[in-house]
Amino acid sequence: MKDVLTITGGKPLKGKVRISGSKNTTVALIPATVLANEPVRISGIPKIADVAVMCQLLEELNCEVEHVNGSELIINPDKLVNKPLISEDVTKLRASYYFMGALLGKYKEVGIRMSGGCNLGPRPIDLHLKGFEALGAKVEYINDIYYLKAEELRGTKIFLDIASVGATINIMMAAVYAKGRTIIENAAKEPEIIDVANLLNKMGAKIRGAGTNYITIDGIAYLGGCCHEIIPDRIESGTYIIMAATAAEDMTIENVIPLHLESLISKLKEMNVNIEVGNDWVRVKSDHDLVATDIMTLTYPGLATDVQQPLSVLLTQAEGKSQIVETIYKERFKHCHELNKMGADIEVMTGQCQINGPSKLVGCDVIAPDLRGGAALVIAGLIAKGKTTIHEIYHVDRGYEGIDEKLRALGAEIERTTE
Ligand code: EPU
Repeated sequence: MKDVLTITGGKPLKGKVRISGSKNTTVALIPATVLANEPVRISGIPKIADVAVMCQLLEELNCEVEHVNGSELIINPDKLVNKPLISEDVTKLRASYYFMGALLGKYKEVGIRMSGGCNLGPRPIDLHLKGFEALGAKVEYINDIYYLKAEELRGTKIFLDIASVGATINIMMAAVYAKGRTIIENAAKEPEIIDVANLLNKMGAKIRGAGTNYITIDGIAYLGGCCHEIIPDRIESGTYIIMAATAAEDMTIENVIPLHLESLISKLKEMNVNIEVGNDWVRVKSDHDLVATDIMTLTYPGLATDVQQPLSVLLTQAEGKSQIVETIYKERFKHCHELNKMGADIEVMTGQCQINGPSKLVGCDVIAPDLRGGAALVIAGLIAKGKTTIHEIYHVDRGYEGIDEKLRALGAEIERTTE
């Protein structure tokens, strides 16, 4: 049985929505806790499918996981058994690969299946492996399982050819117990990396420079427990802000860090969206003369690839031709075919697409191709004429806490059924 969302479009959104804790931070913090030798308490945990899978993986390793107050986790790695992670769960998401860095860092060896995640085209992990090898690990790949082992992990200088979020976090985790100093050059600068470094530092690690492209990690001998609160999800924030610009009369998005959204907010202003930015909130009021624009996805602080798909829906409502150039994941346009079924005029080419607007969207049956593409179809459904039925909604549930409940509270007509 799979969940399906049906949206009856044309009901303008009104009111306030609260953003949950960051998915991409949570799924890195959970494996990071295995580096500790005492319980770690994390608050602001979003209720999403990916978190449930990560907790399942902790339990496979014999970690105690306690759920408190609905949005907190207390993880005790005291009785952890470092056995190979080879269950189906590993393949359900990308972030399971953070157990590579964390378990290698603590136990000097790890066995793990290749991780999964959204199909956005090739997603190699060569940079992660090069980093682990540089620290002293030997890597073997046998029957779809990576085995990494090191006599000793030694700090070294690692230059990342691409500023990869995953490789930066994974190498940071593998290096916390290494002998001496590790330097990551051309590190990724995403806010999620700062949050992971903050957690590790509270546990006793010595990581400096997270959030810049030059990170140093001085190896230590012991990591203890701590309490940590997760940052708000900048991609969920961006999705709701874009949704507001597309489908709201007057909507306030609360619990956001506007600094994390600067490139998106300036793009929306360029498109003539009526947007007001507060300390930890953003308010969007309806404005119907949207202007077409060109966008290019980049690593942080550039425009995030994850908001590109929701943005493409807004661009279908703007007057004129807009171009999207995707520099991170060249195949992240699968949702465009579904939008065209709804009446959009989008031409997809390799690594880019052209959107001719404005188009009147009409509801029909569509399939969520991936997480953010699914969220884009939800936005399209909110403004389409009639009913839009979105299949394969489990993609969206991986990363958006209670999307149907949040939307219903804003006045949307949305129903969840199974098929
Ligand atoms: N890359 C390599 N080799 C590597 C690692 C990455 O060539 O070893 C390439 C990738 O193929 C890609 C680019 O480098 O073209 C950037 O990839 P990165 O490693 O930064 O991405 P990631 O860590 O796999 C995270 C998020 C993604 C988000 C990207 C980019 C998580 C769990 N995932 O992925 O989030 O799109 O960073 O910011 O944190 C999502 O939330 O929907 C999502 C896909």
